[in-house]
Amino acid sequence: AITRHYKFDIRLQNVTRLCHTKSIVTVNGQYPGPKLIAREGDRVIVKVTNQVSNNITIHWHGIRQLQSGWADGPAYITQCPIQTGRSYVYNFTITGQRGTLFYHAHISWLRATVHGPIIILPKLGVPYPFAKPYKEVPMIFGEWFNEDTEVVISQALQTGGAPNVSEAYTINGLPGPLYNCSAKDTFKLKVKPGKTYLLRIINAALNDELFFSIANHSITIVEVDANYVKPFATKTLLITPGQTTNVLLKARPNSPNSRFLMEARPYATGLGTFDNTTTAGLLEYENTGISSGNLPLLRPKLPALNDTAYATNFTNKLRSLASAQYPAKVPQTVDRKFFFTVGLGTSPCPTNQTCQGPNGTKFAASVNNISFALPSTALLQAHFFGQQNKVFTADFPKRPLFPFNYTGTPPNNTFVNNATKTVVLPYNTSVELVMQDTSIQGIESHPLHLHGFNFFVVGQGFGNYDQTKDPSKFNLVDPVERNTIGVPAGGWVAIRFFADNPGVWFMHCHIEIHISWGLRMAWVVMDGELPSQKLPPPPADLPMC
Ligand code: C2O
Repeated sequence: AITRHYKFDIRLQNVTRLCHTKSIVTVNGQYPGPKLIAREGDRVIVKVTNQVSNNITIHWHGIRQLQSGWADGPAYITQCPIQTGRSYVYNFTITGQRGTLFYHAHISWLRATVHGPIIILPKLGVPYPFAKPYKEVPMIFGEWFNEDTEVVISQALQTGGAPNVSEAYTINGLPGPLYNCSAKDTFKLKVKPGKTYLLRIINAALNDELFFSIANHSITIVEVDANYVKPFATKTLLITPGQTTNVLLKARPNSPNSRFLMEARPYATGLGTFDNTTTAGLLEYENTGISSGNLPLLRPKLPALNDTAYATNFTNKLRSLASAQYPAKVPQTVDRKFFFTVGLGTSPCPTNQTCQGPNGTKFAASVNNISFALPSTALLQAHFFGQQNKVFTADFPKRPLFPFNYTGTPPNNTFVNNATKTVVLPYNTSVELVMQDTSIQGIESHPLHLHGFNFFVVGQGFGNYDQTKDPSKFNLVDPVERNTIGVPAGGWVAIRFFADNPGVWFMHCHIEIHISWGLRMAWVVMDGELPSQKLPPPPADLPMC
């Protein structure tokens, strides 16, 4: 294992898409940001310097951060923001993970443009559990707004209404030929006949789950969220914001046509306002000897926008590899059980304001009716220095504040309280968490992301979770291991994990507007007895608020 050094200068860059130029916050002037490459076991040191007027933090999404919580990055959770003109060095070791993850800004909506791939190769000499691909290609999905995303979110929060939606989805920052004024900004994947390619697919879009497919080709899923899965072939994959998926693409041995479109566009189950446009890239065969530049491009057939049956079937196919080399260490017994409702709600409009949310209220979102209020100093600092009493409480409810039927239309638990509450867990607690989506049935699912851990998805279903019947159907053998899971609209998921990482760990919906509305909470995991089970003190350059 080696140490890898990176320098991330956060600076403005003019970028033009859809014939619209704007100045965006970037890493090193690049959009999307540069690739971060390391091997399992390596130490990664990234010096982030803030050269813009916004405050910034960077989160290494999916990196376990064992004993290195100070490097996790969510603003006001593990650190105060890096202020203009300041630097902070993120220093972490990649332990027990290999695959694709990504990094992104973790403050306000800056992750719209501040994001890039993290590629974790296996340890030197350790092969993939599948045939070595000829080439590897990161593909990061994003969203392009003609407007400044900081303006979009601050307007939404001020008016209490829904934010404006994006103008385009992108593949590696490029919207592609299906948008006006965009054909020259098209992602191209050039392949040689018969060769196999590993596509490292990342959904960095702010607000939408995406279907993705390539015309006339099937793809084989081999890894999600930096965990190997039992390979399976599919035409279309589904990926929520915050998820990553590695797929193998085998180029045809000889292709009558040499150009195909690949497309991504949302899976959204219902009425809400969302960008329902399609981004496309080009799959181009090299050396076919056929000049097909003028042939009509074939387009993939994506499932319908609201095809929940497809989405569910796809998700149910994901299984841990669970091999001797990569065992699935699923907690077989549980120390503590939690039941969280996750969903949208409303809060009253302040007098002297007019609000644009439902019936003149403000949109809000919550976990167990708590809309998590970010503190003005970082929770992890408060925890480490014994000042938690001033900053947060440890009484996050284990269950919703009152029980009812969660699948009614509309559900009746949409009220929220603003509070900074956490769950405090002893070191190495084995946790079972059932999350029930309380969105009005048929509207949207919530991709819940947990920092600091991978979890196993032991069960999922539709309707109300039944604690007497459903646990008997849990998969404790080869459930998929990941860091982000879509809690289906009108349904639930059950996850299990060992709280073996001391620190303060954010958990939230990875739909950015839902984070802004409060669909977020934090777990505090206490130190264990051994030195290797304790959170070390913060680095000297940790930013102060
Ligand atoms: Cu990628 Cu807290 O998120």
